[in-house]
Amino acid sequence: MSTDSATLNTGIRKVFQLHDEGAQAWYDVYEAPGIAGPLVTASVPREDQSAGVVIRHLLRCGAKLPKTNERKAIVTAAIACDAPIVRRAARNGWRDASTFVTHRTVVSGRDNAEAILPPTGAYAGSTGHMQDRGDLDGWRSLMLIARFSTAMMIALAAIFAAPLLKIALRPNFGLVLFGPSRSGKSTAQLAGASALGYGQEEDLPSLNATVSGLLSVAVAFNDHAIPINEIGTARGGKNNVYEVVRETTYGLMNGQDIIRHPSWAGSDGGATATFQVLPLMSSEHSPDA
Ligand SMILES: Nc1ncnc2c1ncn2[C@@H]1O[C@H](COP(=O)(O)OP(=O)(O)OP(=O)(O)O)[C@@H](O)[C@H]1O
Ligand SMILES: [Mg+2]
Repeated sequence: MSTDSATLNTGIRKVFQLHDEGAQAWYDVYEAPGIAGPLVTASVPREDQSAGVVIRHLLRCGAKLPKTNERKAIVTAAIACDAPIVRRAARNGWRDASTFVTHRTVVSGRDNAEAILPPTGAYAGSTGHMQDRGDLDGWRSLMLIARFSTAMMIALAAIFAAPLLKIALRPNFGLVLFGPSRSGKSTAQLAGASALGYGQEEDLPSLNATVSGLLSVAVAFNDHAIPINEIGTARGGKNNVYEVVRETTYGLMNGQDIIRHPSWAGSDGGATATFQVLPLMSSEHSPDA
């Protein structure tokens, strides 16, 4: 962190050096007071070390900068500062035997684990709208309701089982909750999905995505359960549903991203082009039907 008094006074400082593993690029991340109030951060490609460029990035991010005649010296001081290294993971799931990347946090059993951030949607595919709300105790007491519903229990178990697939050396498999309309399928799915950070049914991934779109979402759920709401609404209309479901489940079960995700090119090659997922789907009709 900055010890330079000029940068401390203005609140402009280099907070970390970020390695974006998906983009295979390094950034210097600066923090500054914002014109709209809260602090803003600007990620500046590491090759841009001139004060002018960093100032432009900061302004673009809404930073409130000191007077024009002072800002260059202040930003130059911030550029010269050292900052800890932080890595942004390219994908979710197991990173090594004791580090697991979720959508919102990274859980590590190692003592002095290096700082790792979860991937952004840009490389890992869109995951819909996840967020942190409430606390663990509140969630647990709410989820006691699952003892009245086997479907909710299954959904919750699936969410927590998915990370174990890799450890147990088990292949991908999917679960389909099927039953008549308004029988509680989506509600059960949502109970499980709430452990991932989903708050409402509308936010769950659906089969409305194209197959390649859905596969890139699946990649973002590596070593996770992926709740897919109402597979009967797959794009292409009723006659086409089977086709879409078959293609998609084939892709998901195979754990192969057929389209080859661009962010993996040149990283560790074939190894990262597979994923393990546990799709938790709902449908009015059974897969057989
Ligand atoms: N276990 C349950 N006990 C009582 N009510 C429930 C239960 N599960 C869901 N419900 C309520 O039943 C209604 C329908 O639930 P939900 O939308 O989950 O059904 P669904 O099977 O997904 O229906 P659809 O096929 O129309 O999508 C909701 O109002 C929900 O709150
Ligand atoms: Mg439903």
